[in-house]
Amino acid sequence: MRNSKSSRIGLLTGGGDCPGLNAVIWSVVRGAAGAGIEVVGIVDGFEGLVGGQRDLNTRSLRPIDVRHIFAQGGTMLSTTNRGNPFRYRTQTADGVREEDRGDEVVRNIGLLGLDGLIAIGGDGSLAIAHELAQRGANVIGVPKTIDNDLGSTDATFGFYTAVEVAMQALDRLKTTGESHDRVMLLEVMGRYAGWIALHAGLVGGAHAVLIPEIPYKVDSVLNKIRQRWREEGRNFTLIVVAEGAHAQGGQTTHVEPATTGRVARVGGAALGLEAALKSAFSNGWDRPEPPEVRTTVLGHIQRGGTPCAYDRLISLRFGAEAVRLAQAGHWGRMVCLRGTEIADVPLGEGIRKPHNVPVDGQLVAHARCVGVCLGD
Ligand code: F6P
Repeated sequence: MRNSKSSRIGLLTGGGDCPGLNAVIWSVVRGAAGAGIEVVGIVDGFEGLVGGQRDLNTRSLRPIDVRHIFAQGGTMLSTTNRGNPFRYRTQTADGVREEDRGDEVVRNIGLLGLDGLIAIGGDGSLAIAHELAQRGANVIGVPKTIDNDLGSTDATFGFYTAVEVAMQALDRLKTTGESHDRVMLLEVMGRYAGWIALHAGLVGGAHAVLIPEIPYKVDSVLNKIRQRWREEGRNFTLIVVAEGAHAQGGQTTHVEPATTGRVARVGGAALGLEAALKSAFSNGWDRPEPPEVRTTVLGHIQRGGTPCAYDRLISLRFGAEAVRLAQAGHWGRMVCLRGTEIADVPLGEGIRKPHNVPVDGQLVAHARCVGVCLGD
């Protein structure tokens, strides 16, 4: 089946949503229609492919079905970050049963008459796609995530929109923080990668940016706050904290532990720093009144809403390239961005390498060059 060309393909979105998913769907459907390929949308990610024939959750996708979705946030196919078919959980009278239903999904792809599947997802969904490919399914992966933490692609769509949203939040925190002369902390998403924090911090005028790749010292942050006072006579200090950031000798904090079939939820880094700063202030500060510290956790606002121009462009081009690969029968690949070109890599390679901020790289050097404190 591996090199067969396509006349009918499945399309699904898996894992957390991100801006640009609908643009990829639009692009795949338009591209496929042009190539004479029929597209079947799988609803709720891989969950839509589990079960008997009557349980399968699909909808037909023609150009008319996608005509207004290109710029919309979310995904018209719905998604879930539960429902891994290889560790599929069902509630029974005796509790939760976990089973490997991967082969059933491969069979269902055949039952639906699909020549192959285009799976749009992050590391978890692409790992599932890869495993399905290992079991004989024809799959093409399209990488997505606001975190930009996937290896083998220079960027994922959704990331630039999240940066834009975080930058706008910083612009707003700046005016209120300046007015009240406060230390303002903004926690942004990104899991174990500091891409959103560093990009947003640089373009949003943060004085300090704390990322998981560079464990911070509370003293460095305190020094930055002191330096602001000495040089500008103000407490106002704008600090971006990646949700995965942690102090030296500490670890990333989680708001929810990992459970079977669900990764741990990262978060709480900014509140942790707020507590550490307050405790340092209460142990003696060199001015009579310590600064007030306020924390904002930006959360899912970074994931919702319409994609920015660049994310739309990457999404459109990823979708078009995925169709071109399917049309040529090049299965088992993941589309990716290489500079300004869309390329493809083996699906397994795409998920093997995590993508973190290089601590000796140019971005970090430029941040230091313009005086941004990175907490070390
Ligand atoms: O991976 C994308 C992401 O938004 C992370 O930045 C964040 O930690 C996580 O998903 C939140 O996931 P959920 O919406 O499942 O809580």
